[in-house]
Amino acid sequence: MFVIKKDISLKPYNTFGIDASASYYAKANTVEKVLYAINFASYNKLPVFIIGGGSNVLLTQNLEGVVINPVIQGIQLHQDDENEMVFRVGAGVVWDKFVEFAVNNNLGGVENLSHIPGLVGAAPIQNIGAYGVEAKDTIVKVEAIELATRKLIELNATECEFGYRDSIFKRQQKGKLVITHVWFKLFKKPKFVLEYGNLADELKKLGEVSLQNIRKAVISIRTQKLPDPAVIGNAGSFFKNPEVAISHFETLKQRYPDIPSFPLSSEFVKIPAGWLIEKAGWKGKRIGNCGVHDKQALVLVNYGGATGSDILELAAGIQQSIKELFGIELEREVNLL
Ligand code: EPU
Repeated sequence: MFVIKKDISLKPYNTFGIDASASYYAKANTVEKVLYAINFASYNKLPVFIIGGGSNVLLTQNLEGVVINPVIQGIQLHQDDENEMVFRVGAGVVWDKFVEFAVNNNLGGVENLSHIPGLVGAAPIQNIGAYGVEAKDTIVKVEAIELATRKLIELNATECEFGYRDSIFKRQQKGKLVITHVWFKLFKKPKFVLEYGNLADELKKLGEVSLQNIRKAVISIRTQKLPDPAVIGNAGSFFKNPEVAISHFETLKQRYPDIPSFPLSSEFVKIPAGWLIEKAGWKGKRIGNCGVHDKQALVLVNYGGATGSDILELAAGIQQSIKELFGIELEREVNLL
C-alpha cells in the first residue's frame, strides 16, 4: 500500500541534518505513485516540494505541503553500439551505485564523479561535476512529470541548457517538474580525464590507469577533504566557484600573488571560492552550531542543532567579507527549500 505520511521531521532526509518538518511526505518508487502524490497535493490545495537524496538542499523553514521523494529504481540497457551503451536509469538510484555499476562493467564516462552523494535524479539539476568531468558529458535525455499538466515529458541534453552547476531545472523549470528517469551514454573505449588537481598523483600510487583505479583515487581524495554527511551535516560545496573578469583578476593578483585561477575564456577566469574563503580567515571557523569545514573551506557544516537560518546567516557573513576583501560576489550552489 502507498502511504503518504503526515507531519514528519525531514531531518533524516537532508544531509545538512536540518530539523524542519513537512505536512506530508510521500516516498514514491513508481511514476504512478509520484502522480498519485501530485494529485493528492492538488486535491488538498497544497504545494509540492521534491527532495531526492537531500544532499544539495538547505531547508530554511517547515514545508507546508507535500514533499515527494521519487525513489524510482532500475538501470536498463537501451542501446549497445560499437563504442557506447545507453542506459535508462531511475531517478531514485543512488548516484554512486550507478557509477560503481558503470566501472564494474568497464564503461567509462562517470568514474571521475565517484562518491558524489545523492540520487541520479539530481545529477541533471545540478549538472554535478568533479575532477574535470560533468554529468552533462554523459546525459542523453531526461524524463520528467510536468506538475501543472501531469504529463510525461522528455528534455534532450540541449533542452536541459546545462551550465556550470546549472541547468534549466534550476531556472525556468524550477519547481515545475519531477524528474523520473535519466538516460546516460557510457563509453566502451573511454578517454580518461586525469588533468584535475592531484588526481594523476593519487592514481600513480595505485598503479595502472584504469576505470577502477580512477574511481579509487577519486574516492580517496574526496574522503580526505570532504566531511561525511553521516558524521557531520553538510551539502558539499555551499558556493559556486566565481567567474571573474581577467582585468579584475590581474588587480587581485598584484595584492595576492598566490591567488589560484582556472582559465575560462579570453575574458574570464574561475577562482576557487575555497581559496577566497580560506584567505578571508573563515576556514575552520565555528559560529554557534555551524561553521566552515577545516579541510575544505567551500563546505559549510552543521555541528548539530543548526537551523537553515543559522547556516544562511553564516553564508551571508562569508559573502559579505568576500565582497569587501576581493570585490567578488559568491553565488550559492546549494538550493534553498
Ligand atoms: N582551496 C583552498 N582552500 C580550501 C579549498 C580549496 O585554497 O579550503 C583552493 C586550492 O587552490 C585548491 C582549489 O581551491 O587547489 C580547488 O580546490 P578543490 O580541488 O577542493 O575543488 P573546489 O574548486 O573547491 C570543486 C567542486 C567540488 C568538486 C571539486 C573537485 C564546485 C562548487 N565545487 O571544488 O564539488 O568535488 O571541485 O572537482 O565547483 C560539490 O559541488 O558539492 C563539490 C564538492
